[in-house]
Amino acid sequence: MAILVTGGAGFIGSHTCVELLNTGYEVVVLDNLSNASEESLQRVEEITGKKVIFYKGDIRDREILNKLFTNEKITSCIHFAGLKAVGESVEKPWEYYENNISGTLVLLEQMKKFNVKNIIFSSSATVYGNPQFVPITEECPKGTCTNPYGWTKSMLEQILTDIQYADPEWNVILLRYFNPIGAHKSGRIGENPNGIPNNLMPYITQVAVGKLKELGVFGNDYDTPDGTGVRDYIHVVDLANGHVKAIKKLEENCGLQIYNLGTGCGYSVLDIVHNFEKATGVKIPYRIKPRRAGDIATCYADAAKAKKELGWEAEYGILEMCEDSWRWQKNNPNGYAD
Ligand code: NAD
Ligand code: UD1
Repeated sequence: MAILVTGGAGFIGSHTCVELLNTGYEVVVLDNLSNASEESLQRVEEITGKKVIFYKGDIRDREILNKLFTNEKITSCIHFAGLKAVGESVEKPWEYYENNISGTLVLLEQMKKFNVKNIIFSSSATVYGNPQFVPITEECPKGTCTNPYGWTKSMLEQILTDIQYADPEWNVILLRYFNPIGAHKSGRIGENPNGIPNNLMPYITQVAVGKLKELGVFGNDYDTPDGTGVRDYIHVVDLANGHVKAIKKLEENCGLQIYNLGTGCGYSVLDIVHNFEKATGVKIPYRIKPRRAGDIATCYADAAKAKKELGWEAEYGILEMCEDSWRWQKNNPNGYAD
């Protein structure tokens, strides 16, 4: 009995593999390594002392899926595989719809063929668009996304909802992540962005390690306490544990469920800079820049539903998130290439 983890070599996937293995699940990873390195899985094995079964391949490849489902006893799938760079998705919409949507349709088709009808899908708070209210509950209406990446999440949520409605044997959990940061305490696995990071925390850690000169703060004229954007940052290990709880929920034949995975706390960009400096003792030079297109002022979760129904809540605070992000970056200045 094993869990299929698509995209399991990536940032959130590798941390989730650790928590699944530590809980006693067998793990089979399918990843095409388009944004990851097999080294992350070796380190997952080193951290847990357990084996990961790895198939290097693409979720759009029926042959490899056929082989995987024939060879392995899969009960459920956690589906992380996808392209996730917001700016790139605006330049290359075809690639994003092809990879994320066509890929998921092929995966679902093969799951159905082998009668594996349990799936957890990596969605995002981005589906709320500019949210109608904060803190954001799961009842908050979905909004208008500002980029093709966001639309792939929103559309895949709808596709999975329709599939579960048509065939109630499916159990589908849509997890809407807020802003995952941090890294495993060992400092052996973490976020490994290609090129110059788009997201705040990897940018800060690369400034701290001396790879980048200064942080650009995108706007200080938002309607927030200090004018900079407010987000709900969540430790990736907490997020990973949310998936273990969600797997247990699938095992109860839960039908369709939607959960926000966030802490419920909002921090501004400058709060993050100051907390990072406090946690690490490293100064982060920054400069105020114009707003980034598509950004919103404030986004943080009401995480009560996941607490009530999954028995899950985030445990790590912002200082630990900063410390752990820093340990990973400091020990691995070039990511898995070190
Ligand atoms: P990541 O890029 O580190 O991991 C995604 C993994 O999927 C990579 O290892 C990549 O090689 C693999 N992959 C991509 N396309 C594939 C394909 N066609 N076939 C097989 N493997 C493929 O990203 P992450 O941060 O770990 O995110 C995991 C999931 O969570 C993604 O779906 C992402 O959109 C979603 N998500 C991430 C965030 C975030 O801030 N990191 C927020 C919300 C949602
Ligand atoms: C972004 C994506 C979101 C995606 C998420 C995780 C957009 C509009 N949204 O969320 O769809 O799910 O990443 O991949 O891109 N900031 C700076 N300087 C920087 C980087 C960021 O000031 O160099 C600010 C941003 O303006 C924002 C905050 O930091 O206020 C967080 O940004 P980021 O880490 O990119 O996450 P989101 O924008 O919330």
